[in-house]
Amino acid sequence: MRLPAHLTIKNSHLHIEGHDCVGLAQQYGTPLYVTSEDRVCDLFRSYQKALGSRYPKVQVLFAAKANGNLSVMRALAKLGAGADVFSSGELHLALEAGMQPGRLLFNGSSKTPEDLKLAVEKGVKVSVDSLDELHQLDAAARTAGTIAEIAFRVNPALEVPTHPKIATGLATSKFGIPHQEIPAAYREALACKNIKPVGIHCHIGSQILDVEPFAKAAEVMVRIAKELTNMGVKLEFIDLGGGLGIPYHHDSDPVLTPEDYAAKVMPVFLAGIKACGITPELWVEPGRSLVADSTVLLTRVNSTKSAHKRFANVDAGFNLLIRPAMYDAYHEVIAANKADASLATEYTVTGPICETGDILAPDRKLPQLAAGDVIAVLDAGAYGFAMSSQYNSRPRCPEVLITGTKAALMRRGETINDLTATMQRPPWQ
Ligand code: LLP
Repeated sequence: MRLPAHLTIKNSHLHIEGHDCVGLAQQYGTPLYVTSEDRVCDLFRSYQKALGSRYPKVQVLFAAKANGNLSVMRALAKLGAGADVFSSGELHLALEAGMQPGRLLFNGSSKTPEDLKLAVEKGVKVSVDSLDELHQLDAAARTAGTIAEIAFRVNPALEVPTHPKIATGLATSKFGIPHQEIPAAYREALACKNIKPVGIHCHIGSQILDVEPFAKAAEVMVRIAKELTNMGVKLEFIDLGGGLGIPYHHDSDPVLTPEDYAAKVMPVFLAGIKACGITPELWVEPGRSLVADSTVLLTRVNSTKSAHKRFANVDAGFNLLIRPAMYDAYHEVIAANKADASLATEYTVTGPICETGDILAPDRKLPQLAAGDVIAVLDAGAYGFAMSSQYNSRPRCPEVLITGTKAALMRRGETINDLTATMQRPPWQ
């Protein structure tokens, strides 16, 4: 199987950045998320280089929903990252990680009055999803005695090649304002006393393994930018969102780099802003393509069984990685302690959750497995731990961060006490 450079096989064991996955599983227990900080940082720098070498005013915002661990966000903050935050919680995390408020965009299609108040208080820009929200934000800014800087979330009505649940810019999607109604929305924003429209924003979807749709989105955005500029809107940034996919199928999916993205999108963006006669910042919001392949989820085989097919029952299920159950997503699996053994047996790798759909990897060729073996689920760094739950009253597992030869917990595992910590006894019991 084709592996990225930070994953290697040595002495029959899978290693991540030179750390033996079997040793990590032994030391910290399983299930266990292990993330390479260096890999995340390298990918962030690739984005900065690919875009920044073509245009100096670039801001890379990490989509915090993909991985909300403070240590990951702190590493990115140190490199100058901003963030796309989709909740007050993500906003707090981004600030705590050291990201500058001016580099944050508060996104969301259903913000509460408290979200809007927080955005105004912290002085972060808001991607406004509706005219209703615009007027609520105007009022919140008036109460606080400030001006809220905004972009509108544009719905560009673009079909994209991805799972329908993660296409976000279809005409039928819940996100944003239809592109043809955008000029009217800005006109309305210009008339609000405590609103200053400074940007435009879109995000067409996620796990897109083709750069063409991003160029199409850029085309729509610069066309709108021209109209807005003519209307007197002074655009300080154009945000093209995130969405670049990663090769979950290591041997068959295309590998798209930030360089491929930039080579396709930047000519459209640059020609477009030239036609407008403006030089706004370009913002992008990658999540998955920054963090997904930095992380393996290590899980131990509890038992094997031959029924109508062969099952390997492991200790991580959709409580820790919901992507296979939710999107039929494919993640490569490797027997970490038998990493160069021949793939002689077909297994369905199943989790411990009481649901038929709790399958991490169906019908995979693996070495002959036995209880105690360690399976590494690859590409688990985006929407992995971030979407985990305590379903079946299973405490969530720890997360380890590695850099160079160092490894340390970046989140301790939850305990049984954590399960009950927020529960309260009603007075009648
Ligand atoms: N910006 C906005 C406004 C977004 O909604 C998203 C993702 C991103 C940026 C980052 O997209 P990325 O570069 O990661 O593709 N849970 C799903 C993915 C949901 C994505 C939601 N929005 C999954 O596991 O595939």
